[in-house]
Amino acid sequence: MKTLIVYYSFTHNNEVLAQELQKQLECDLLKIEDLKKRKGFSIFLDLLFNRKPAIKFDPVTLTDYDRVIFIAPIWAGKIAMPLKTFLTNERAKITHYSFITLCGGGNKNQHNKITQELTFILHASPDAVTELWIHDLLKENQKNSPGSVTNYKITNGDLLMFQHSIHKFISQSETSIIHASSEKSVSWNH
Ligand SMILES: Cc1cc2nc3c(=O)[nH]c(=O)nc-3n(C[C@H](O)[C@H](O)[C@H](O)COP(=O)(O)O)c2cc1C
Repeated sequence: MKTLIVYYSFTHNNEVLAQELQKQLECDLLKIEDLKKRKGFSIFLDLLFNRKPAIKFDPVTLTDYDRVIFIAPIWAGKIAMPLKTFLTNERAKITHYSFITLCGGGNKNQHNKITQELTFILHASPDAVTELWIHDLLKENQKNSPGSVTNYKITNGDLLMFQHSIHKFISQSETSIIHASSEKSVSWNH
């Protein structure tokens, strides 16, 4: 199965996750960057005006891949806008995809919102959606202190804590593709 990971990361947490997943899957990796250097405040402006910021990335042929895994932070309950720019522009070439994020967490409804947002943009539902919550890594006395989530820098050691969720995500993202390709071969055999 040929897999591509496409990721956007502003403060590098999701980059650490993308690199770890790439190591585990031994697949290709595509980094999306803001065309104009982002300042923290621009996140609020993008959200306020529902802007799709300009992005840059190396050329890629998405249709060469059986599975695409998207990775990006969540900002105000939504997928980070630079990834949304990519999804909107490339949606015709994306069929089987999954999404995983290292986000602040703490809101049980967020998973549904992310799934709906992806389905709306791509006109197809994701094979898997997984949130890894920084909230779960914090000590009790840090959980309510402002900035403890947004300033958190993820380490490879932290990712070990999420290994079970990451493995579950990988197998969910494979299942429907294996199912789809076995259905195809059954219909070819008839
Ligand atoms: C302005 C802003 C808003 C955020 N809103 C959310 C949110 O609604 N839900 C959530 O789970 N995390 C939220 N976060 C936390 C980020 O998703 C988290 O810090 C993430 O790991 C950052 O990823 P990055 O380092 O790859 O950029 C927010 C962070 C920022 C800076």
